[in-house]
Amino acid sequence: METAPAQPHVLIFPLPLQGPVNSMFKLAELLCLSNIHVTFLVTQHIHSRLVRFTDVESRFKRYPGFRLETISDGLPEDHPRGDKFMELFDSLKVNTKPLFKKLLMSDGRKISCVIADGIMGFTGDVALEIGVPFIYVRTISACCLWLFFCLPKLIQSGELPFDGDDLDTPIKSVAGTEDFLRRRDLPSFCRSGDLSHPNIQLYKSECEENPRAYGLILNTFDDLEGPILAQLRKFCPNLYTIGPLHTHLKMKLAGDMASSAPAISSNSLWKEDMSCIAWLDSQPEKSVIYVSFGSLALMTKDQLLEFWYGLVNSKCRFLWVIRPDAVAGENEVPADLKEGTKERGYIVEWAPQEEVLAHKSVGGFLTHSGWNSTLESVIEGVPMICWPYFMDQQVNSRFVSEAWKLGLDMKDTCDRVIVEKMVKDLMVDRKDEFSKSADQMAMLGKKCLGEGGSSYCNLERLIHDIKSM
Ligand code: UDX
Repeated sequence: METAPAQPHVLIFPLPLQGPVNSMFKLAELLCLSNIHVTFLVTQHIHSRLVRFTDVESRFKRYPGFRLETISDGLPEDHPRGDKFMELFDSLKVNTKPLFKKLLMSDGRKISCVIADGIMGFTGDVALEIGVPFIYVRTISACCLWLFFCLPKLIQSGELPFDGDDLDTPIKSVAGTEDFLRRRDLPSFCRSGDLSHPNIQLYKSECEENPRAYGLILNTFDDLEGPILAQLRKFCPNLYTIGPLHTHLKMKLAGDMASSAPAISSNSLWKEDMSCIAWLDSQPEKSVIYVSFGSLALMTKDQLLEFWYGLVNSKCRFLWVIRPDAVAGENEVPADLKEGTKERGYIVEWAPQEEVLAHKSVGGFLTHSGWNSTLESVIEGVPMICWPYFMDQQVNSRFVSEAWKLGLDMKDTCDRVIVEKMVKDLMVDRKDEFSKSADQMAMLGKKCLGEGGSSYCNLERLIHDIKSM
């Protein structure tokens, strides 16, 4: 770049999926609060859903340096993007990359730094070519990212590939996890038995690219993933662990006396059903198990019914999110299911999840272990039952149950008797044990976010580094 920019100005580009969009909006707002100009780049598909379902545009009006920009993902409007992630990914690489380059060149004199999802290595290629510094964000857990970094080692040691058999076989070549990691806890695509599986190739090569960046931002906190972060630093020394981002933002806004923004911002790509908050208000403290499997997980009708019987038979109260597109082949919640839940349950299509998990009536979370959901639960001290669906979730759920002792891992089963038993364990029989460890971890998380804490200081350092670029 020829001239130094007058005002620090970052371009933020999230992977176009609910979880990454959500957390990177929080990052954008944190930077805006520090007087950094932000251009937030989303695909047109994400933009159309954001303007339909959220207050994002009006929320960011209070930051004069904020700009929302769109770019094409190169797919037809009716493409089922999240369900066919590799197609989305390939299209971003082929179709979006040249558009991204054009945009960055036209804005080149003004952008002091690109902050993009590290799974989109093409953003780094373009930034390098144009000569703009770039920082990657990985919106998954450090523990899963570490596993991606270890893929070459797993292959060298002969622990990969395997074909889905003997899933309880211990994994030994991932430093820091030797005591508890099994084949079944590796990212789901590792089960394919095929080293040329596109996901193995993708995650291996994208990780190899990550150390090119000036630094790596992680939505986690040191007291949660410290030992794994120490391993990661061997590859990427400049880590900015600044999470959980949503609580970080909430705390900054609470401390910002001039702030007129509500503490919780919604970046949902579905319409939030706020009626569940009124329902929660009328339930006893910590009595409700919240059930949600995130934005991408699909289940069969049989699985849906196993969960339903398990939940109803547990006799616990539950709030359940069933997305309209969550049950394969079914668009409707069956009428008998609606009827059967009336007594103790409440079903919505999409919930204000951060608010739900912070609600005093919620005492447990039956989750798919997506990273955002996991962090949102951890910081509110809500113990979990994990039913991981794919990718990073298999790893997260093992860490939740074995490394952090924050709940139970139900992976690879979906049986009403097990659901009932685990719900009773979490909510009644072992409630004190799990509440104690969950409260302790939440407290550590909040300490990391408070003045002088690791997430607090790392954000200060990130802001300082951006301003000096
Ligand atoms: C998946 C992964 O599991 C995740 O780790 C990865 O980074 C991206 O792909 P997803 O299924 O979207 O993500 O799960 P998660 O990361 O938990 O994000 C879901 C987000 O949607 C959370 O921030 C959650 O608060 C929000 N949500 C979910 C709602 O606001 N309402 C709901 O009803 C359900």
